[in-house]
Amino acid sequence: MAATLTQRLQLKLPLWQAPMAGAATPRLAAAVSNAGGLGFLAGGMLSPEALLGEAAALRALSERPFGINLFVQPDEPEHDEARLARALERLAPLHAELGLPPPVAPARFCEPFSRQLEALIEARPQVASFTFGILDARQLSALRKAGIAVVGTATNLGEGLAWAELGADAVCAQGREAGGHRGTFLGPAEQSLRPMLSLVYELAQNLPLPVIAAGGIMNGRDMAAAMRHGAQACQLGTAFLRCPESAVSPAWRQGLAAAGGTRLTRAFSGRLARGLENDYMRRMAAWEADLPDYPAMNALSAPLRAAAAQAGRGEYLSMWAGEGVAAARELPAAELAARLHEEWLAAYR
Ligand SMILES: Cc1cc2nc3c(=O)[nH]c(=O)nc-3n(C[C@H](O)[C@H](O)[C@H](O)COP(=O)(O)O)c2cc1C
Repeated sequence: MAATLTQRLQLKLPLWQAPMAGAATPRLAAAVSNAGGLGFLAGGMLSPEALLGEAAALRALSERPFGINLFVQPDEPEHDEARLARALERLAPLHAELGLPPPVAPARFCEPFSRQLEALIEARPQVASFTFGILDARQLSALRKAGIAVVGTATNLGEGLAWAELGADAVCAQGREAGGHRGTFLGPAEQSLRPMLSLVYELAQNLPLPVIAAGGIMNGRDMAAAMRHGAQACQLGTAFLRCPESAVSPAWRQGLAAAGGTRLTRAFSGRLARGLENDYMRRMAAWEADLPDYPAMNALSAPLRAAAAQAGRGEYLSMWAGEGVAAARELPAAELAARLHEEWLAAYR
C-alpha cells in the first residue's frame, strides 16, 4: 500500500494547522509541528521578505516539517474603477466614525504572487498549499524541483479534478463550515458550499490523490469522522484561533469567546468569506454585489480594519471564524494538539 501523507511527512498524527492570514504565526506553526502535526505559515498577504522572515523564525523554533500557503492571483489583478469609487464613498462614513481621514485607493492592492512564490521556493517548506486559484505547469514543476509537496484547495469536484490533472500531491477539501475565505476558483462561490463530510467523500471517491479535510473540524472525533469519509489528514483553523500563539486582536479574541453566529460575506475583501457576524457585515450587505472584487476591496477596507483592531471595535473588524467556533478551546497550541491526538485515538477504540 502506498504511504499515507502522514507517513510521508513523518507526522505523529494527521493534524494540519490551517494557514490563516492575519492569525497564524511562526510560534503557532512551530508548536503544532513540534507536537507531531503540520504547522503552516500563511504567506498570502506577506511581502516576499516578510515570508522569508517568518520561515526563519519558525525554523528557529522547530526542526519539524511545516507548510507555507499562498493565494494564487495575477501579479496585478484588474479592478473596476467605478465600483472602486462607490466603495470609497460607502467606507467614508465608517472612516469618519473611527476618526480616520477619508479612504483612498492604495497604489497596490496585493503583493505580487510571482515574487511570493519565488520566496516560498527559497524558504523550502516540506509542503506548499494554495487557494483562490490554480498554478500553471511551470510553477508546479519549480516547486517539484525544490522537493516541495503541492496541495491545492478545492471547494467542488471540478477544482479537485483540475489540481489532480495538474499533478498536485494532494487536495484540501474546504467544506462550507470553514472559517475565512472560500477558495473557490471555478464557478460562483455560492454554488460551492458543500458540507465538509460530503465534499471529502466525493473528492476521495473521484480523485487519484490524498484528500485533506477542512471545515468545522473541532475535536478528535470530528477528525475520525472526516477520515472515515476518506480524508488522509484534517486541516483545522478555527480550533486554533483562541490559542495564545495566534495573532488575533483582543476584540477578535473576545468575539471568539462570545461565539455568536458566523455568516458568509464579501463586504470586507470582495471575496466570499466566513466570519463572526457584526455591524459592518449588516451595514454593507445591501452593496455586497457592487463592491470591487478581491484584492481591491480587501486593500480598501484594510485601514478601517487596522484602526478597528487598534481601538478594540469588533463591529468594524473582519473576525474570520468557522461554524464550529463555539467549540474552539482556549489552550496553548501544544496542549490542544495533544488533546486532539488523544481524542482522535479514543474515537477508534
Ligand atoms: C482566520 C482564518 C484565516 C484563514 N486564512 C487562510 C489563508 O490564508 N489561506 C488558506 O488557504 N486558508 C485560510 N483559511 C481557511 C483555512 O485554510 C481552512 O479552510 C479553515 O480554517 C477550515 O475550517 P475551520 O476554520 O472550521 O477549521 C483561513 C481560516 C481562518 C479561520
